[in-house]
Amino acid sequence: MIDPSHHPIGVFDSGLGGLTVVKEIHKLLPNEQVVYFGDTARVPYGTKSRPTIIRYSREIVRILLKHKVKMVVVACNTASSLALETLKKEFDLPILGVIDPGARKAVRLTRNKKVGIIATSSTVKSGKYVLKIRQLDRDIDVISSACPLFVPLVEEGWFDNAITTQIARQYLSNMKKHNIDTLILGCTHYPLLKNVLHDVMGPRVQLVDSASEVAIQVKELLLKFRMLRTSLRPGQHLFIVSDEPKQFSQLASRFLGGGIKHVRRHIYV
Ligand code: DGL
Repeated sequence: MIDPSHHPIGVFDSGLGGLTVVKEIHKLLPNEQVVYFGDTARVPYGTKSRPTIIRYSREIVRILLKHKVKMVVVACNTASSLALETLKKEFDLPILGVIDPGARKAVRLTRNKKVGIIATSSTVKSGKYVLKIRQLDRDIDVISSACPLFVPLVEEGWFDNAITTQIARQYLSNMKKHNIDTLILGCTHYPLLKNVLHDVMGPRVQLVDSASEVAIQVKELLLKFRMLRTSLRPGQHLFIVSDEPKQFSQLASRFLGGGIKHVRRHIYV
């Protein structure tokens, strides 16, 4: 039998956003191989209903399983909010979402107990972040806001320009009025806009990106199940997208800092 520690980690998102998680996994666990699925044919997820997100997520986990992944990271807040519990019930392998790690980090960081959350409409509507934060500390004031235009801006590669800044100003004006000191980037696309978000919110507001926390949890889980890859040969990551790979390859190379060699297209039947 092949040692499962040699199998890859499956990571998925609706598009580019989950690469923020891949980057941190690669930094912390350079020997691990990742199979990434970006559902670029069906992005955005953030405006879609729960049954649709569950169906999409289930289909993707099945595709990742064909690549013999040893665990799955749902690197999408929308899918983590709406589909994680169902996936955990239906599939017999470790599955990790991104909501809990982000909420924990924000609770640890806030000093004035005023936390903001920006996310997709579906994540905000699910109330999952507010629930988790309140479970951890009932005294924290939470304000949430949906920022639906951020995802197409990221998919377009407009990480840092005047229009993005103008849109961010408008979306975040309410957050500023509430005097928050911690802002959860509750969508894995948003860390790609970190420079703009930081400029708009100012230096006193800490931005919480759950990616590094998720990587730590991936390591803990792999250790727990004795599946951590110990060989010293760095794994070759594989990227799969459900639409034309060109734009994804370019932006992914720009973000991950290097040529992305293996990008494949998956065609839904
Ligand atoms: N990056 C995803 C999230 O964290 C999904 C964004 C979208 O497709 O709307 O919510």
